[in-house]
Amino acid sequence: MSWLNDLFADGEDQAPNSESVQASPAAADPVQAPTEPTGSIHSGGGFCETLHGGDLPPWERGQNGASADIEGMRGGLQTGLAVLAKNYRGRELELIARLQTALDTNDLGLPPFPDTVIKLRGLLDSDRVDSAEISKLVRTDPGLAEEVWRVASSAAMGGQRPKTLQQAVGRLGHQQLWKVAMFVALDEALFQVTSFEEEVLFLRGHGTHVADLAEWMAPNRLKGQAWMGGLLHDSGKLLICRMASEVGVPNNAPVLATLMDHCHSGLGGLVANSWNMPQAASAIAFHHGEEDPVGRLIHRADIASHGAGAALQGLDDVRAQAALAAQEGGTFSTSALMDKAIQLAEKDRQAA
Ligand SMILES: [Fe+2]
Ligand SMILES: [Fe+2]
Repeated sequence: MSWLNDLFADGEDQAPNSESVQASPAAADPVQAPTEPTGSIHSGGGFCETLHGGDLPPWERGQNGASADIEGMRGGLQTGLAVLAKNYRGRELELIARLQTALDTNDLGLPPFPDTVIKLRGLLDSDRVDSAEISKLVRTDPGLAEEVWRVASSAAMGGQRPKTLQQAVGRLGHQQLWKVAMFVALDEALFQVTSFEEEVLFLRGHGTHVADLAEWMAPNRLKGQAWMGGLLHDSGKLLICRMASEVGVPNNAPVLATLMDHCHSGLGGLVANSWNMPQAASAIAFHHGEEDPVGRLIHRADIASHGAGAALQGLDDVRAQAALAAQEGGTFSTSALMDKAIQLAEKDRQAA
C-alpha cells in the first residue's frame, strides 16, 4: 500500500525525538504512584465492561494468533479455539464454533469493502489526480457525499457551506477525504453490531485515537499505514462482538473477554486480509508486540491511549508510562507520547 505512504507523507505534526524531551518522573519511579485499574478505559473517558478482563493491562492481552503469514494466523487461532472449546457449553460454545467455522471456511461473514472506497483509493493513487472525477465518484455514494458535505461545512473547515460537491472535496484535501471515506466504509461494514452498541462506540473511539497517535509517531513513509492499522487494530474484537450478536451471546458473557484476550490480534489480521489490506493485516496481527514496524508503533499508541484514558479520569497512568518507558527505542520519549495522547483525547472529547 505505497499509496498510503504518499497520501500521508505531508503530515506537518511530527513527533519530537527523545533528545528534546525528558522522560517523565512517573516512568522513572513507578512504585511511588498508585496504579490505574485494569481493563479498557476509553481515551474519551468511558469504561467498557465487556472488554475488561483479568489483571493484566489491555496492551498485554491479545498477542495470540499473530503470525508472519495468513495461514499461520488461521492455524494458531484454530489451535487456541480448540483448547478453549473444552471449557464452554451452550451459547458460549456456539460462539466458539462460529469462529471455528469462519476460520475453516475462510469466510468471516463481513460485507465486502465498499467498492466506492476501493475506486477512490485508485483515483487518489493515480499519477494525475482529477478532482472532477473524484467528486463524480463521491456523488455515487450518498452516505459518503453527505459526510463530505458535513465535514466541509463544519466549523473546523471555516463554517461556510461549499457551493458544489467538487468544492467540498477540494476543501477536505486528499488525506482528509480518505479518512472520511474510511469512516463511512467502516461505519457500514464493521461499526454496527446489535446489542453491542456500547462496545462498538468504545472501539470506534479507541481506534480513532490510536490511529491519530500512531500516525503522529510514524515517519512520513509509514504514516498512512500507521493510521489505517491503528484504526483497525482492534477490529478482531469487533468481529467477536458481531458473531456473539449473531449467535445470541449477551454482552456480559465471560467468554467474550477470554476470546478477545486470546484471538483479537490474529482475527483483526484476518479482517484486514479479507479486505485486501495485506500490510495492515501484518501490523494488526502484531499490534501487541515488536515484530512488525507499523505494529510496533500501534502497540505504543495503544498503551499511550489507555494511559491517557486513565489520566483524563484523574487516575494514575503509571503502568502505561512504565510500559512505554520499557519499550523506548530512542525515537521519542514517554512524556512526549503521553502528552500527545492526552491532547488528542481531549480534542476527541470536545468533538464528541
Ligand atoms: Fe489489541
Ligand atoms: Fe487497543
